[in-house]
Amino acid sequence: MKKIYIGMSADLLHPGHLNIINEARKLMDKFGEGELIVGLLTDKAIASYKRLPYMNWEQRKVIIENVKGVTKVIPQETLDYVPNLLKIKPDYVLHGDDWKTGVQAKTRQRIIDVMSEWGGEVIDIPYTEGISSTKLNSVLKEIGTTPEIRCHRLRRLLNSKDIVTICEAHNGLSGLIVENTFINQNNKKVEFDGIWISSLTQSAAQGKPDIGYLDTTSRMTTLNEILEVTTKPIIYDGDNGGPQEHFVFTVKTLERLGVSAIIIEDKVGLKKNSLFGTEVFQEQDEPLEFAQKIKAGKQAQVGDDFMIIARIESLILEQGMDDAVKRAKIYLDSGVDGIMIHSRQKTFDEIKEFASIYNKLENRKPLVVVPSSYSQVSEKELVDSGVNIVIYANHLLRAAYPAMVNTAKSILENHRCKEASDEYCMKIKDIITLIPGAK
Ligand code: SPV
Ligand code: MG
Repeated sequence: MKKIYIGMSADLLHPGHLNIINEARKLMDKFGEGELIVGLLTDKAIASYKRLPYMNWEQRKVIIENVKGVTKVIPQETLDYVPNLLKIKPDYVLHGDDWKTGVQAKTRQRIIDVMSEWGGEVIDIPYTEGISSTKLNSVLKEIGTTPEIRCHRLRRLLNSKDIVTICEAHNGLSGLIVENTFINQNNKKVEFDGIWISSLTQSAAQGKPDIGYLDTTSRMTTLNEILEVTTKPIIYDGDNGGPQEHFVFTVKTLERLGVSAIIIEDKVGLKKNSLFGTEVFQEQDEPLEFAQKIKAGKQAQVGDDFMIIARIESLILEQGMDDAVKRAKIYLDSGVDGIMIHSRQKTFDEIKEFASIYNKLENRKPLVVVPSSYSQVSEKELVDSGVNIVIYANHLLRAAYPAMVNTAKSILENHRCKEASDEYCMKIKDIITLIPGAK
């Protein structure tokens, strides 16, 4: 009995996939019988080189196992086929012939070499022109997403990635940048996983200090602007969540909109930005009071996906490591879905120390950090310390502001806009076509 192996993601199943499966069926017909095994890439395997699939592994499995000819579906845990091939020792591996060139050529050669150990063969199936997952993906992105899918995505990312990377946005345009910007690095597509709705940058963008002056309606207007032009998961900066009686409404609103998480800080009184530290008066909440707010929020949400993350301000307010850890335990016991530990030190040391203690807690939940003041820390170091989410909390606005000031100064200096246009500005043609649909 011949064994045929096909590795695929099968997220957006299209005629190209079915063509390969049909070729496998023809082979089985030729030999009278056979087994067609699909190595279905896990979310983790896919997230290692591009964005998460739309459907999770179980959903994709249900679809692919019901395609005519497929006899078995097994997980392929890595992008690399070899571990599964060594287990199964298939007679044939089928793949679209597009992998003969470019970055996949090496993968193909490795498979050919491994298969030769037991006389297996690689068969390249002529690529189906005119349709591809990449094209379908970009069309789907234009259509958008649903609140449920978006909300759930943060939990899926946490299950699939070593670290989830989140970048600040403060309006629709910066939201589009976080949504669409990517680079190719070591044959992987690298992009942000989600969006941070920062109270600091949203306030600054509206010309207001970060003291909780923007009311919830105003915050939601900006949030909606961003929701409308993006599909990535969103983490909302809820300051201290307000009074418990208000917080439960905020939770319901955010969940309904498809936001994945709110982070609330354990402070009371007039809000001041944490990075002022002890320079200004900031008061921490009683841990048990704050735990009560968390509990009320968890009870208010309708589904299971929305996350409430507690932000511990003990290190910011110089209350010591023991206080931070004590609070982490209390908040975890209250049912929180994650802990954010904040610091305004120039080094990563105190966060690292906190993480090493926190990681040992039995009911540990995802750990979030915001490396604004210890910006030299790398994602690799964060992963090594057990951090699960990193938030780049203010960088797009901090980059935009000096660029705008320089442009304004240049026009003032030159009494015309040619220098500013040439030196600091994008082309007129580019700005009028920046947002699709303008023409
Ligand atoms: C924000 O981005 O608004 C934050 C992070 O809350 S920080 O400014 O560091 O307090
Ligand atoms: Mg804030």
